Amino acid sequence: MSLWRLLTLTIILLYFSAIILFLTYQPSPFDTTALYPPTPCKCPQILTLAPVTTPSEPATTLSESPPTSPPRPLHTLAVMVPFRDRWEELTEFVPYMHKFLNRQNVSHEIWVINQADKHRFNRAMLMNSGFMLTESCCDYLVMHDVDLLPLNDHLSYAYPTDYSPYHISSPELHPLYHYKKFVGGVLMMTREHFKRVNGLTNIFWGWGREDDELYLRIKEAGLQLHRPAGITTGNKTFRHNHDRKVRPRDMKSYGTQWRLSRRRDRESGLHTLKFEVLSIHNMSINGAPFKLANLELHCDYQKTPFCDHPS
Ligand SMILES: *[C@@H]1O[C@H](CO)[C@@H](O)[C@H](O)[C@H]1NC(C)=O
Ligand SMILES: *[C@@H]1O[C@H](CO)[C@@H](O)[C@H](O)[C@H]1NC(C)=O
Ligand SMILES: *[C@@H]1O[C@H](CO)[C@@H](O)[C@H](O)[C@H]1NC(C)=O
Repeated sequence: MSLWRLLTLTIILLYFSAIILFLTYQPSPFDTTALYPPTPCKCPQILTLAPVTTPSEPATTLSESPPTSPPRPLHTLAVMVPFRDRWEELTEFVPYMHKFLNRQNVSHEIWVINQADKHRFNRAMLMNSGFMLTESCCDYLVMHDVDLLPLNDHLSYAYPTDYSPYHISSPELHPLYHYKKFVGGVLMMTREHFKRVNGLTNIFWGWGREDDELYLRIKEAGLQLHRPAGITTGNKTFRHNHDRKVRPRDMKSYGTQWRLSRRRDRESGLHTLKFEVLSIHNMSINGAPFKLANLELHCDYQKTPFCDHPS
């Protein structure tokens, strides 16, 4: 009997000690689950919890690092300068225009289109060639005489959103030419409009009249010609850098030339243009960058034997 009681007592004792142990249990300091996380953890729970601890921090902070280069400009202007042997004027023109356009924040590339062949000067064909060469850089252009410097900062060279074609050296402002249909000197157009009028004629060799023919193209295409308004500097708006005595103009006329250069040319233009690029150079004058394109223009001797002076 006493053995039976002893067994019962032992079972009761074990039962109570189990209950006491269970109730008084505390995790030991060496229990790894109690120390969790012992070191900074890379597990996803910790990462998703992190923003909750700093709710005032804007979530976009990380993506707003300052840009390393300025954003690409919306528009870039091709300043196309028809050129041959005018280095004195060019050394003044390039740095002057670069500063002038920078003051207006006008993104630009100056392209000096140099006629490097032996034919007579063909300003119109150089402008057509310049149009082809500047296709990838620029979405609008200005045909710019090298000897004409704008003096008034209110003459805008910005993209002519709703006023292309824009004749900047208007008859009231140009130092020499005052007739109503004058579009020479400095004329700005969007590339789209230049294409629409099929560029300029290719058959005008020698000095002058290609701009009068361009006026007819603009009219026939139904484009409205715009000019600066509110400019108060009159005939002091441009400086004309040209000395007629030093550089006589090629005003000679041979054979059919006189007749052909006094009417609208409906045959030639951008789509009949033929020229060869001899070289293109990245150059600068006093820190002002420009491109020099050396070109050989193609002469159609059948149609325009007057592209050379008769020997
Ligand atoms: C050109 O940009 C500068 C700096 O962004 C600005 O201060 C200046 O007013 C701008 N000038 C013109 C003519 O927009
Ligand atoms: C420039 O304009 C002024 C004032 O209108 C006039 O007196 C002067 O003769 C003009 N000069 C030239 C070169 O046309
Ligand atoms: C001229 O500069 C342009 C970038 O503006 C570059 O693509 C081209 O390769 C350069 N040409 C030469 C001959 O260095």
